[in-house]
Formats: sequence, C-alpha cells, structure tokens
Amino acid sequence: MGATPAVETLRAAKGDGETCPIVQQTLVRGDSVSARHGDRFYSAVYPRGRGKGIMAKVLVTGGAGFIGSNLAARLLSEGHDLTIFDNLSRSGCHANIEWLRATYGAESFRLVRADLTDFAALAGAAEGAQRIYHLAGQVAVTTSVRNPRQDFEDNALGTFNALEAARLHGDNPIFIFASTNKVYGGMEEVRIEARPTCYAYADLPLGIPESKALDFHSPYGCSKGAGDQYTRDYARIYGLRTVVMRQSCIYGYRQFGIEDQGWVAWFIIAALKRRPITIFGDGKQVRDILFVDDLLDAYDAAVAHIDQVAGEVYNIGGGPENTLSIWAEFGPLLEELMGRPIPVAYADWRPGDQRVYVSDIRKAAAELGWRPRTPVRAGITKLFDWINGNQSLFAHL
Ligand SMILES: NC(=O)c1ccc[n+]([C@@H]2O[C@H](COP(=O)([O-])OP(=O)(O)OC[C@H]3O[C@@H](n4cnc5c(N)ncnc54)[C@H](O)[C@@H]3O)[C@@H](O)[C@H]2O)c1
Repeated sequence: MGATPAVETLRAAKGDGETCPIVQQTLVRGDSVSARHGDRFYSAVYPRGRGKGIMAKVLVTGGAGFIGSNLAARLLSEGHDLTIFDNLSRSGCHANIEWLRATYGAESFRLVRADLTDFAALAGAAEGAQRIYHLAGQVAVTTSVRNPRQDFEDNALGTFNALEAARLHGDNPIFIFASTNKVYGGMEEVRIEARPTCYAYADLPLGIPESKALDFHSPYGCSKGAGDQYTRDYARIYGLRTVVMRQSCIYGYRQFGIEDQGWVAWFIIAALKRRPITIFGDGKQVRDILFVDDLLDAYDAAVAHIDQVAGEVYNIGGGPENTLSIWAEFGPLLEELMGRPIPVAYADWRPGDQRVYVSDIRKAAAELGWRPRTPVRAGITKLFDWINGNQSLFAHL
C-alpha cells in the first residue's frame, strides 16, 4: 500500500467516530496508536489512503467476489483493517484476491477461506468487527432451482450465521446486507406495457418502492428474502445496526459474469470471445442497472448516516433514469462498441424472470442523500474497456 508521507495529527478512536480524549499525537500515515482510558482500550491506525476518517475493523463476506472485491479495494484505500471471508467458490475469485494483494500489498488484509455454514470460522472472522458487509452467497436464480438446499444453506442459513456472528462476536457493528429486488417476486398485478424495444410499467413511472408487498419467488428469492427479513428484524429485536440494500442489477469492474448471473458482463465477455449468446425471453425485459462504484457510495452513505438509518431497507438500483432492455436495447450498444453484428439465439423465459424491474430510489435519495452518478452508456463503456483490456482473465472461458 502506498503510504502518504504527510505528517498529520490524529485522535485515536474506537469504532466510527468515538474519540479517545487522552491520545493526541503526531502520526505518519499508517502509524498505529493505542491507549487505555478508564476501563476501555482504544486503538487506531491513521489511514494510509485518501480518507481522513478513522480506521475501522471491517469484515466483508464475499470479499473475493465482484462487488466484494470492489468494496475491499475502497476500504483498503481508506486504510481500514480488513478481513475477507470467502470460500472462493466463484469463478474469478482467485484473480480478484491476487489483484487486491498486488494493488494494496500481500499483508494488507486477512483472508479467511471458509464457508458461511461454518459458524465457528465466521464468528472468528467477525471478532471485534465494527462494520460487517454481508455479500457472500449463492447468486443465481437458475442454480437455486437446480439445488435449492445448497441455496438455502448459503443464503438463508449463511445470512443467519453472519447475523449471529455480528451479534455475538462483533463490536456493536454496522451490518450491511446485499439483498435483492427478487424479494418482490413476479409482481403479476403490476400493469406492463410492451413498447418497441422494451417493456415498461404502465402506472409506476418512478419504479417499485420499498412498500411493495414481499412475494418471494424462486428458491433464490426465498433464501435471500429470509436473509433480508432476518437482517431487518435483528435491528428491531437485538438493536443490531443493520441496513438492507435491495439491489437491482449491479455491473462493473471485476465482474466475471456467466450465463446464469451478471448478464451485462456476460454478454460483453461472450461477444468478445465469440461465444454463443442465448437470450431467454424476447430480450425486451428491462432492468435498471447500477455501476458498482455507485452502489459503494450507497453503502458509504448508510454507514455515514447509521444513527438515522439503522433498521431501514432501501431499493438501490439505477432507477428510472438508468434502464435498459437486456438485448433489444443493450444489443445495439454492444454491437456499436464491438464494431460488428453479434449473432444471438432465443430460448424460453426463465423462472422468476421479471418483464420489468425498475427501483424507485426516492427513499435512498431522501434518507441517504444518494443518487446514481454513472449513466448507462458511460458505465457500460467502462466495463467493456476493462474486459477488453483484461482478456487474459477470461482466457479459460
Ligand atoms: N451483482 C448483482 O447484480 C446483485 C444484485 C442483487 C444482489 N446481489 C447480491 O450481492 C452479493 C454479491 O454479489 P456479487 O455479484 O458480487 O456475486 P459474486 O458471486 O461475485 O460474489 C459472491 C461471493 O461469495 C462467495 N461465496 C458464495 N457462497 C459462499 C459460501 N457459502 N461461503 C462463503 N463464501 C461464499 C463467492 O466465492 C463469491 O466470492 C450477493 O449476496 C448477491 O446476492 C448482487
């Protein structure tokens, strides 16, 4: 990790913002300081990165995955004490860990390679954590249909274990859970219009709000939904400082998309590698897509406003201004980036596939002061350039 040579003054602190009154000394970035005050022990490391904040002890489950590795990079650049908990089951995970080590240093974080069902390992990783981002899990609807027990263990039991680890072993942690819009199900009662290149809500121009009734659909919807509701309830019953992020379609750097999950990245990878592309349904199904950096901004905003937002649930996606149909509109954009036509085959709809999903993000805007900053075209171009420039990472496909 590149240390900044500046000499600054820092008050040592424990947790997010609790200052220790007795330590005030001159530190170089990266220095650690500790002191006992009354019956409490305080320690802090002055951040090495761009942040001026206080270092926290942070656990990221799924930190080797797509969103998790982007989050880990942000946390490391801010100088936090990071533990990544991951079973490294997802393709691309090893490359993400290698990249984090190469960028921030081999010793810059602790990797616990274990499964979410191993409570003892998870509890150990959560020991003293002041922030926990729970991102690990089974991520594809199709896989959940093929193996519902595995999906249940990863997502329902896995999230329960993460919450218990936070409650019993964390240091009054903030707990952010990566939930999904799939908790709203197929929304058959919502009127949908077919337009030439996309479907659209007839009566919900601003998208689906958090007040929409839950209707778990598919084993993945059920297992993530169980985690979503447990997370919310741990705030009510145990006072755990949780925030549920019902994420829409996230895309960005370090996304190793496959046909079953991560369609934006998958279509780009498949096009560049001339792999066959199958469109399930008619390609006019619409998603609001969100660039990963914008999602991390929402996580940051939740942490910054935790006193106001603990126990809350937010729909986090691109919102009505960042929608795209998965092939009828995305295809022409990708063909433009590729500079050639891309042949595709069509197949039947997949279970649980919504014709339209667009998040109503007004609650997040009002309470987190957050909005997406990356327009669709700019974000897709960034991801295209990253995949195109890192084709060796996809050589095995
Ligand atoms: N990417 C999206 O569009 C999106 C949308 C909504 C919700 N989410 C949620 O966000 C989270 C992160 O998604 P992602 O796109 O980064 O997925 P990802 O597959 O890239 O990352 C998930 C990580 O969890 C690890 N993992 C899986 N099962 C595990 C287990 N049993 N024990 C330990 N580690 C395990 C994997 O190895 C992987 O590194 C997931 O919980 C997902 O459901 C993602």
